[in-house]
Amino acid sequence: MRVLVTGGAGYIGSVVTAELLARGHDVIVVDDLSTGHADAVAPEARFHRAGVTQLSDVLGDWSVDAVLHFAAKSLVSESVQHPARYWHNNVTGTIALLDAMRAHGVDRIVFSSSAATYGDVSDMPIYEDAPTRPTSPYGASKLAVDLALADYARAYGLAAVSLRYFNVAGALHQPDGRSYGERHATETHLIPLALRAAAGDSEPLSIFGTDYPTPDGTCVRDYIHVVDLADAHVRALTAAIAGEHQIVNLGSGSGYSVRQVLQAVRAVTGLSVPVRDASRRPGDPARLVAANTRALALLDWRPTRGLDAMVSDAWAFTRR
Ligand code: UFG
Repeated sequence: MRVLVTGGAGYIGSVVTAELLARGHDVIVVDDLSTGHADAVAPEARFHRAGVTQLSDVLGDWSVDAVLHFAAKSLVSESVQHPARYWHNNVTGTIALLDAMRAHGVDRIVFSSSAATYGDVSDMPIYEDAPTRPTSPYGASKLAVDLALADYARAYGLAAVSLRYFNVAGALHQPDGRSYGERHATETHLIPLALRAAAGDSEPLSIFGTDYPTPDGTCVRDYIHVVDLADAHVRALTAAIAGEHQIVNLGSGSGYSVRQVLQAVRAVTGLSVPVRDASRRPGDPARLVAANTRALALLDWRPTRGLDAMVSDAWAFTRR
């Protein structure tokens, strides 16, 4: 299959690109490099530096079979301060992409949606039919695209899958020695920050909230290995059905608290993680755990790598 990957120079996009190539697909990456890194794109992929609103030529020049759409802004707190960036980039940008796809007869898309579309949910685990009440413009922008995809599928016959990620972590280490992982200029995620603190490269890690109604008082999240996530994307490419929009959660079905993650970081690295208790981070729900039965039913997908593998692969990536 010839696949166009938007945002293929970012964390998840670069891992999925490498996995697609390893499975024999032909990959064209587009990325505006606003947050991605050109050297994160596997050399076997064709690379175009462009934004998602500038894809008409690329779609016209190459007979693309499907689009994997990762390009987006993805910082929850930035989205609260600068919602216009999120509505323009994530929503207007995606509509422009969908219209360019229509114009060029490309009728298959897998979209990076998010658990942030659900917001603060009380019933765990979260099924795909749970109410969607996003608590940030980031989550709202992902939900808006999910709604647009449903309309485009129904009216224009698009085959669309929205994959709603829970907490993605880990890195891809290929047998040829190349690695793909997380290197955000602005890092907000727990595992990379805990690894930096363990390595002594940063201030102590702040634990955001120790008074949540959870067993140890810290937030519980559902972590999923980026290589498992990539596998789900490859499966979704073929599972997408013309005229249908399918929403699929990607998580492990198990939750780990912040303190449990820090324990895994200590166990894997053999280092202590300096921490300090801090106040709650605005907008953080106490608990987010995915129901992943639909991923099994539709994609025959199940997670194969646990928290220790995520931490050790991320640690190996950081040390390179
Ligand atoms: N945390 C800390 N200290 C830190 C960083 C994080 O205690 O320095 C805690 C957070 O409060 C949270 C947990 O670690 O309880 C995980 O935080 P992350 O920032 O790693 O991930 P989030 O759960 O906030 O975010 C993830 C995705 C987002 C998505 C969101 C949906 O990364 O893209 O889930 O809720 F929007």
